[in-house]
Amino acid sequence: MSTDGKVKYRSADWFGKADKDGFGHRSWMRNQGFPGDVFDGRPVIGICNTWSELTPCNAHFRDLAEHVKRGVWQAGGFPVEFPVTSLGEAIMRPTAMLFRNLASMDVEESIRANPIDGVVLMCGCDKTTPSLVMGAASCDIPALVVSGGPMLNGKYQGRDIGSGTDVWRFSEEVKAGHMSLQQFMEAESCMSRSPGHCMTMGTASTMASMVEALGLSLPGNAAIPAVDSRRAVMAHLAGRRIVEMVAEDLRISCILTREAFENAIRVNAALGGSTNAVIHLLAIAGRLAVPLCLNDFDRLGHDCPTLANLMPSGQYLMEDFYYAGGVPAVVRALGEHNMLHRDALTVNGKTIWENCREAPNWNAEVIRPWDRPLLERGGIAILRGNLAPNGAVIKPSAASPRLMRHAGRAIVFENIEDYKLRIDDPALEADENSVMVLKNCGPKGYPGMAEVGNMGLPASLLKRGVTDLVRISDARMSGTAYGTVVLHVCPEAAIGGPLAHVREGDRIELDVEQRRLHLDVSEEEMGRRRTDWKPVPPPMVGGYQRLYFDHVLQADTGADLDFLVGCRGHVVTRESH
Ligand code: FES
Repeated sequence: MSTDGKVKYRSADWFGKADKDGFGHRSWMRNQGFPGDVFDGRPVIGICNTWSELTPCNAHFRDLAEHVKRGVWQAGGFPVEFPVTSLGEAIMRPTAMLFRNLASMDVEESIRANPIDGVVLMCGCDKTTPSLVMGAASCDIPALVVSGGPMLNGKYQGRDIGSGTDVWRFSEEVKAGHMSLQQFMEAESCMSRSPGHCMTMGTASTMASMVEALGLSLPGNAAIPAVDSRRAVMAHLAGRRIVEMVAEDLRISCILTREAFENAIRVNAALGGSTNAVIHLLAIAGRLAVPLCLNDFDRLGHDCPTLANLMPSGQYLMEDFYYAGGVPAVVRALGEHNMLHRDALTVNGKTIWENCREAPNWNAEVIRPWDRPLLERGGIAILRGNLAPNGAVIKPSAASPRLMRHAGRAIVFENIEDYKLRIDDPALEADENSVMVLKNCGPKGYPGMAEVGNMGLPASLLKRGVTDLVRISDARMSGTAYGTVVLHVCPEAAIGGPLAHVREGDRIELDVEQRRLHLDVSEEEMGRRRTDWKPVPPPMVGGYQRLYFDHVLQADTGADLDFLVGCRGHVVTRESH
């Protein structure tokens, strides 16, 4: 508060001074045509934009940002748009996840270094949501997410097809000889037919739903299709609301409480959301020192039914989900069954229950009623055992019921190159009881923990009609993928975790009900194998990848960089030139 009784915002340290520094800060901004009264002490709202033509899911964001600006101007704020590192899941190599933490640094430092009082985070493609939220959390200023929205449903040969999910299906049908290459190529143009992100309940839709469940977006944000005019309205309203949030000093730490994370975990279970939510929610919580661990996902999610009948667990797509009622309808169902912290605060200043208690469900096939769920017990199961002492994850709703309790002989791939080389080798001894093991694809091993855990089956088995095998790795899996896939095995092989010591022919036991993942090898033999093991060398001698390799944490705590964990606040330690 200043001496004249007006609230003094952070930006006043830049624009509110009648001296050389104030002159410099205002004068250069004026070259964009802003009149002098925008520096009259009104809140400056950063619009943190991940627009990029190399992130096709976010390619409509320049237009969407204009709608946010309209709302900011209308509410009496001063909008300033700024770009940050954009992560295109479909394009980046070796994997966009390698750069999530780098992008979060860009966001954090951009906010802190500039005269920003509140920020609208423009999120879309998978990693653009966690990276922006992580960066804003480490500054702890008022923040609100506007998602880009999903693409319209894909349409091929008269039926709906879903991003990712049907690519996996089609490619296996080609390998099995049930689909021609020409048909496969035709489907390509039928899948991604509008702006927006993947329209399955993949990682982008999951993370958009997570921010809504956390209370970090306006209600209904997650599911509105990118091209629906109501998406632009949502952006406009977000622009208006962030100005009020700054006046109320409603910071991100007021929203992202332990209760909010517990709500998000349950919403993820009810949606059949991506396993990637585990790693991203852990990393976001770590930025604000909110206590959250792997077991919370199992404890809170295991008795929660999956209600959303969406690919990859179910049948429908995000456009259908929006018309059915979207996340608010799911939140209402959870709240009516004692599975929601109803008092959790959201960015509009109301509790999540005030926002959702009257949310309608317009389609009981897309959002199933509580007594007729898609799956009685949804959620993500956390497995432990001598093969994953620090945990591993599996998504039961995307797995085959017959494989949930299974023992089989291991086929072992030392890394992704080994897998590609040998998967269709006729000498590979694979049958329907085999357990496929992939090593060295964890945070350090790949590096970046790529989405390769749902490795395709050998063509010889696909041709025999086998459609699923137990697959185990330290990798992640695309949220659009499915199968009996054990992921995030921790500690990873590249640092000498037990996974590193599995050998061809070992017997592995999986029991999801008992949460058990067991390697049937004696401790004496494991001791011998450990002495033979050699660590994986760093990927590069320098650059970001070396920094990442030296500092990345394991999957069970969110795979953040060790020096980025925590909230460093928004205060700049040194002033101007
Ligand atoms: Fe961007 Fe799927 S590739 S959301």
